[in-house]
Amino acid sequence: MCGIVAYIGSREAYPIILKGLKRLEYRGYDSSGVALLNSGLKVYKKKGKVADLEETLIGKDMHANVGIGHTRWATHGEPSDCNAHPHMSQNGKLAMIHNGIIENYAQLKTELIKKGYEFKSDTDTEVLLNFIENILQNNNCPLEEAVRIALKRIVGAYVIVLIDQDNPDTLIAARKGSPLVIGIGKGEHFLASDASPIIEYTKEVVYVNDYEVAIIKSDELILKNLGNERQTPYITKLDMELAAIEKGGYEHFMLKEIFEQPTTIFDCLRGRLDAHAGTITMKGIDEYAEELKNANRIVIVACGTSWHAGLVAEYIFEELCRVNVEVEYASEFRYRNPVINKGDVIIAISQSGETADTLVAIENAKEKGAIILGVVNVVGSSIARTSHGGAYTHAGPEIGVASTKAFTAQLAILVMIALKVGFEKGTIEEKRYRQLLIDLEAIPQKVEVVLKDHEKIKALAEKYMDAPDFLYLGRGYNFPVALEGALKLKEISYIHAEGYPAAEMKHGPIALVDEKLPVVFIATKDVYHQKVLSNMQEIKARKGKVIAVITEGDTHTPTITNDLMIIPETDEILAPMLSVIHLQLLAYYIGIAKGCDVDKPRNLAKSVTVE
Ligand code: AGP
Ligand code: GLU
Repeated sequence: MCGIVAYIGSREAYPIILKGLKRLEYRGYDSSGVALLNSGLKVYKKKGKVADLEETLIGKDMHANVGIGHTRWATHGEPSDCNAHPHMSQNGKLAMIHNGIIENYAQLKTELIKKGYEFKSDTDTEVLLNFIENILQNNNCPLEEAVRIALKRIVGAYVIVLIDQDNPDTLIAARKGSPLVIGIGKGEHFLASDASPIIEYTKEVVYVNDYEVAIIKSDELILKNLGNERQTPYITKLDMELAAIEKGGYEHFMLKEIFEQPTTIFDCLRGRLDAHAGTITMKGIDEYAEELKNANRIVIVACGTSWHAGLVAEYIFEELCRVNVEVEYASEFRYRNPVINKGDVIIAISQSGETADTLVAIENAKEKGAIILGVVNVVGSSIARTSHGGAYTHAGPEIGVASTKAFTAQLAILVMIALKVGFEKGTIEEKRYRQLLIDLEAIPQKVEVVLKDHEKIKALAEKYMDAPDFLYLGRGYNFPVALEGALKLKEISYIHAEGYPAAEMKHGPIALVDEKLPVVFIATKDVYHQKVLSNMQEIKARKGKVIAVITEGDTHTPTITNDLMIIPETDEILAPMLSVIHLQLLAYYIGIAKGCDVDKPRNLAKSVTVE
């Protein structure tokens, strides 16, 4: 995701765009740029934050009444000056900003190269722009028509805004899947990814719908569909304050990111999982399919929440790929002298891609000849660039210090890798493979179902917020979820919480159990379920409070528990992506109830780039 801002009217465009981009940096901040129409088309762009771009432009003639701006969250092409937006078309007459992913960009790029196009960047955006330019030249039609023709061939998500040197009084915009708001001023229009850059100028806005193209002049806004039919702009009045809008109307980034998970998991699967065709395509993994298939051992290195994702992956890879998996705390792995054998594949999991321990761990392993695959969220980050291959999670910027949407996106990637390898190795039957693809495709909607319970989880949080300690217990796939639930609670509410394998409770932790201790069982339907029920009874027998995450339709467990959280039916391999949502919400609401700063918990940092 990224932030886009554009302006057309009688004011100076540059200050409006610059301030707007700073408000949108939460949406992406690896590079930024502006394009202005001021005696010709001028494009200024730079890797780094918006303030870095601003510094380079001090003293330049930035006068213009029309302009577009972008703060990037890279998906194709690492953060750099040339990959930053706006991009300019080959003939230098068009500039464009884009939010989203053009999934069929590679095919279009091949076609354009055959037509003599040369590309300055590695982005999918530049391909779309030159595709539009090529149509414009071949059809000798208005720019809006060229955009409509082009978008009919596009697979993926986009908001695009184009500025045209030959038509300086008009901006062309279009959207599908990414957000676009148009502010209606008096003799002026403002465009942005959300209302935060607009609200101080006007409260009248139009939310552009999917497959709509906007033709915007200072005093006119026309909306059309891809069939060139006029659409009526529906003007709404903003009633939010600026601070709220940057969080998408949520009180905190953490809550926003928890609620983004249906979309972020969908974005993670998009263009990769085709359940109907029975295929999984991930370029950075496909290139290492042989190494993965023939691996004697897979070593997963990570920290914190990413380490918990690795633990879930251990169970998944062992079951689906029948390969030996070891999950290592990166900090431990880097300081021991680990045995790395030829044929080992290392998977490094990291949201930020900058965690020092994980980075050094894979640098050491790489020197010893291991293949390194990264499962990373931030494109072009150090861990991504150090890895031989891998897959980006495409979860968008995760601003809240507590990792939520990155975790479920990591699980989605890891499941796809295991399914792909297991199927190619023949260690998964075709029937189970196909069923898991279908079940995985359904996960975003099932996350929506879980999120509908947020009020119940809020009530649960208020009921247990004063407990001095919590235990989280689970078996199998649910054991790492227990660890993740405990970590979320610790780092958000500062309540001490421990995660344990449920069976391990008998070997000591049960001494903690009394009537004040809430014990959260992740007890979703799986092969261990009966055993977990026995563990629940052992807690009840000592007056402990039992809170359980169960699978809908489970009628027996509710007869034992004090409180429940319910997930929709899904395969046990995928259940962690649903059960963890409840635990994220529980931690969030307990933290809120205790007055904690849930977006910036004490003592923590979003990315631990020190040892
Ligand atoms: C998780 O909520 C924490 N913020 C922390 O444990 C985090 O997962 C860990 O520091 C690893 O970060 P990374 O995924 O960016 O490498
Ligand atoms: N896919 C485009 C790129 O990688 C846009 C990414 C974004 O939405 O910021 O440049």
